[in-house]
Amino acid sequence: MSKKSKVREGDDLAARHLRIGWWSLLLFLFLGVVLETLHGFKVGFYLDVSNETRRLMWTLAHAHGALLSLVHIAFAVSLKYAPESWNDDGRTLASRLHTAALVLLPLGFFAGGLVIHGGDPGLGILLVPPGGIALFAAVFLTARGVSGR
Ligand code: HEM
Repeated sequence: MSKKSKVREGDDLAARHLRIGWWSLLLFLFLGVVLETLHGFKVGFYLDVSNETRRLMWTLAHAHGALLSLVHIAFAVSLKYAPESWNDDGRTLASRLHTAALVLLPLGFFAGGLVIHGGDPGLGILLVPPGGIALFAAVFLTARGVSGR
């Protein structure tokens, strides 16, 4: 692949992650507004002591979603400044893993809070461990890539 088309491809990937990052940040800020509203109307489904697990799960969905959106934006900027020695396969894999983490972690927390079993979250929480592994791998690949390895 020519140097020019390689740069172009890197730019496309960065632009895609910028778009995903900013739109998902908006989505998770909106979830924050929804949680705020549940507080405002003192909704028992969210605030009753018996529903403490749901509140924890949805707060975690909001917080992880917002923070991972910011990580996505940081990844996009990193792609722009990364050394050329970071090959296409490494970038593509890191990109997919960052996206998987952004979907799996907040979705797992949110789904885990939809149906709760006393103090335990629902089955949706099973999405969280693979999301955590994806994030760990994505951050490792990104750190290695921007270090020129
Ligand atoms: C980048 C932006 C944001 C980040 C990183 C963020 C992160 C967090 C974190 C870490 C918590 C958990 C705090 C704790 O329990 O100790 C939290 C809770 C909360 N956030 Fe955000 N937040 C952001 C923006 C917003 C916005 C814009 C709103 C709404 C206007 C909002 C509404 C809430 C509410 C209502 C809670 C408490 C939920 C509860 O305990 O029931 N957040 N947020």
